[in-house]
Amino acid sequence: MARKVLLLILSLTGTCLAHEHHGTTLFPRADDIPPPAFGYHGINGPLNWYGLDQEKNELCAKGTHQSPIDLSSSTCGRPNEVWLNIPPAPHGAEFLNLGTTVEVITNGTLYNKGKMSNLAQFHFHSPSEHSIDGKYFPMEVHFVFQADDGSLSVTGFPINLGNTTDPLLKAVADSLSEIPSHGNTTTTGPLSFETVERHFAGSGIFQYSGSLTTPPCSEGVSWTVSCAPLSADAEVFNAFHNVLKFNARYTQNQPGQINLLQNIANELN
Ligand SMILES: *[C@@H]1O[C@H](CO)[C@@H](O)[C@H](O)[C@H]1NC(C)=O
Ligand SMILES: *[C@@H]1O[C@H](CO)[C@@H](O)[C@H](O)[C@H]1NC(C)=O
Ligand SMILES: *[C@@H]1O[C@H](CO)[C@@H](O)[C@H](O)[C@H]1NC(C)=O
Ligand SMILES: [Zn+2]
Repeated sequence: MARKVLLLILSLTGTCLAHEHHGTTLFPRADDIPPPAFGYHGINGPLNWYGLDQEKNELCAKGTHQSPIDLSSSTCGRPNEVWLNIPPAPHGAEFLNLGTTVEVITNGTLYNKGKMSNLAQFHFHSPSEHSIDGKYFPMEVHFVFQADDGSLSVTGFPINLGNTTDPLLKAVADSLSEIPSHGNTTTTGPLSFETVERHFAGSGIFQYSGSLTTPPCSEGVSWTVSCAPLSADAEVFNAFHNVLKFNARYTQNQPGQINLLQNIANELN
């Protein structure tokens, strides 16, 4: 997304929250990274996101198509009209610590059944947010896209511990020590997305309509999750883990089912 466009959007919409869907028109980037308006622990954590702002975050407690969810491997498919195209960033890319995650800002495109969306950023969660057949992974990366009509798509890859590290994860991990705290920014080394594109094209995918996994938990987000995890070794995992700490929302009810917080509110009444 061109910076000029972002600045224009920014001047139209004013300031915004540090947010996992940062960089889209819902949450344009600001030059100064504001303090996060939510967290992952205690009263700022996912059980109370609705309580932090009942109007804005209503869907966090009442929405019935919320993310993340547990995915069943029986629904893994491979539609051939879905692909990722992320050009290399030979001079690196902007890398920010938002306090709730770390994110890399770069260009790219997702084609999904005739619809094209532009990459705004990619960021990381630990542990994974989605699970597969009830099984969690040590990490998950989310590539966040927006189409010209404003609709959001997120492509997620679970990340498992292994003896090898995907070259993209290694390149990003190498810059993590430069952004240990909220508000720190740096530039990564050269990035190549070839292995991630190939992994995506060569693996099955889950697709469902869900939500942002952070406030305001907006719905209508088109999710694509790789059925096969990327690999990171222990050293790379620890580098991410030291900075991300814990930043995953709990598993939501299956799409169309009652929101678990609404359910507990009903039970308590
Ligand atoms: C993204 O594209 C814009 C416009 O072509 C370019 O100026 C910018 O350098 C690109 N960013 C990266 C990280 O490659
Ligand atoms: C990693 O390598 C060791 C030694 O070669 C091997 O025993 C182990 O099974 C490998 N682990 C994974 C997850 O591939
Ligand atoms: C990161 O941000 C902290 C808190 O604002 C600051 O004290 C520190 O100097 C920054 N570190 C780097 C490497 O920029
Ligand atoms: Zn995310």
